[in-house]
Amino acid sequence: MDTNFWNGIYKSKSEKEFSWFQEIPVKSLELIDELKLAPADSIIDIGGGDSHLVDELLAREFEDISVLDISSAALEKAQIRLGVRSKPVKFIASDILKFDPQRAYKLWHDRATFHFLTSIEDIETYLSIANRGIAPGGYLILSTFSKSGPDNCSGLSISQYCDTDLKKLFSKYFTNIKCLEDTHSTPWGATQNFVYCGFKKAATLG
Ligand SMILES: C[S@@+](CC[C@H](N)C(=O)[O-])C[C@H]1O[C@@H](n2cnc3c(N)ncnc32)[C@H](O)[C@@H]1O
Repeated sequence: MDTNFWNGIYKSKSEKEFSWFQEIPVKSLELIDELKLAPADSIIDIGGGDSHLVDELLAREFEDISVLDISSAALEKAQIRLGVRSKPVKFIASDILKFDPQRAYKLWHDRATFHFLTSIEDIETYLSIANRGIAPGGYLILSTFSKSGPDNCSGLSISQYCDTDLKKLFSKYFTNIKCLEDTHSTPWGATQNFVYCGFKKAATLG
């Protein structure tokens, strides 16, 4: 995937021109709230772009939030929107496939980034990085286009998933907690079907 491509998208449009825009990422927050994390628990939003998830996590008084995205332009937009509130947030400009986590997070959240990986090699690389980047006993919340969702995003091919596909792929490292489908309304009123799955990493190795 290409940094220039995503920077071009973020520089040329405002947030409400993006199909994926959510004023409040309700489903992600419902799943996060169910985990009953402590304020000091670390959270990373993979491909977070300029999503409002970080705003809502700050409002919930989470203290250790990271947002990773291939597009530095997207991260700058989030920083500008947040203003001084962005101070405690760690912004990481990186391709997820080249991310070398220097720490393990309690929660790894990814809405609509994993599905851009279409080769088995890239999917395996992501899984192995996620496994390294999630602490024992930690969680992964993943959201992709479902089998009845779009087959591309921003002109890029994506992989559609059903809950069974995601459970099968992620069971290599994680135990499934729950999955659900959700219909997202784009800012111009079109609908897109997503599947969300929550996973837990075993608390101890072995
Ligand atoms: C469809 S948008 C979703 C943004 C955000 N997660 C949300 O729900 O609003 C996909 C995001 O993934 C980012 N992205 C795409 N490929 C990536 C990669 N290989 N590594 C990191 N981020 C990537 C894009 O820059 C973009 O911000």
